[in-house]
Amino acid sequence: MKTTISTKQIIESPESSIIEVEQPLTHEAKSKAMKDAWQEVAEEMKSNRVFAAIQRGELGVHEYKAILREIFHHARENPQIQALATSFFRGSEREFVKMFLKHATSEVGHDQLALNDLAALGEDVSGIPTERPLPATTALISYAFYQIQFRNPLGYIGYLFFLEYTPVQNGPTYLKRLREKGVPDSALSFIQEHATVDISHCRLIEKYVDQLIRTQDDLDEVCYAIRTTGQLYQRMLESAVKEIGTRKQWGQSPTETKKAKI
Ligand SMILES: [Fe+2]
Repeated sequence: MKTTISTKQIIESPESSIIEVEQPLTHEAKSKAMKDAWQEVAEEMKSNRVFAAIQRGELGVHEYKAILREIFHHARENPQIQALATSFFRGSEREFVKMFLKHATSEVGHDQLALNDLAALGEDVSGIPTERPLPATTALISYAFYQIQFRNPLGYIGYLFFLEYTPVQNGPTYLKRLREKGVPDSALSFIQEHATVDISHCRLIEKYVDQLIRTQDDLDEVCYAIRTTGQLYQRMLESAVKEIGTRKQWGQSPTETKKAKI
């Protein structure tokens, strides 16, 4: 694992006592640290059983369907997770509340894309919204909540970066390989949407990073979140494929059968 460059500089004060001064983080330094962390995960993904199968065009429709199911459960939580992050903004960070909430709103309904893709592949999706996610999916969702509430809320930017930057980098290859496997475009809307729309979301992240990440500690936490999200995302996909045929054992979730009066 790479360590980030310290921006602390030791200087001598006029009274000859040594003081530590935190140097401002440049845009380039922040961007490089985050992309290096992502690249580390991308290297791991190359040898990951599931991601390597997608890259080689060996992932079957059966496996793709199992993955879409967990993507549905995960994507459903993301707008609410991003909204939660804003509750921790203080001082000038509050200027980002509107931008964060707009970004979060634009992610609403992406879970439905995954369901539509499953339906286009002939799956009965009626029971999916009320089933429990696989534990590996719950771990990924839980990490985002934990990062925001109990570690450093700005680390959330690393979680978001992994989710937005990965489809921009790898989405076109995944689409090509799945099409070669016979998956029709009507069942590729989730990846299609993220390979295109997330380009503008990555620009938003650059603004968040520029203005919100001010210390080396914050940047280290963002890089930790990129690596952690990348690891947990891989576990979710591995688990989706592994649990094909035994998925029902996790049962239905009573909290998801709630009916809101609209
Ligand atoms: Fe996005």
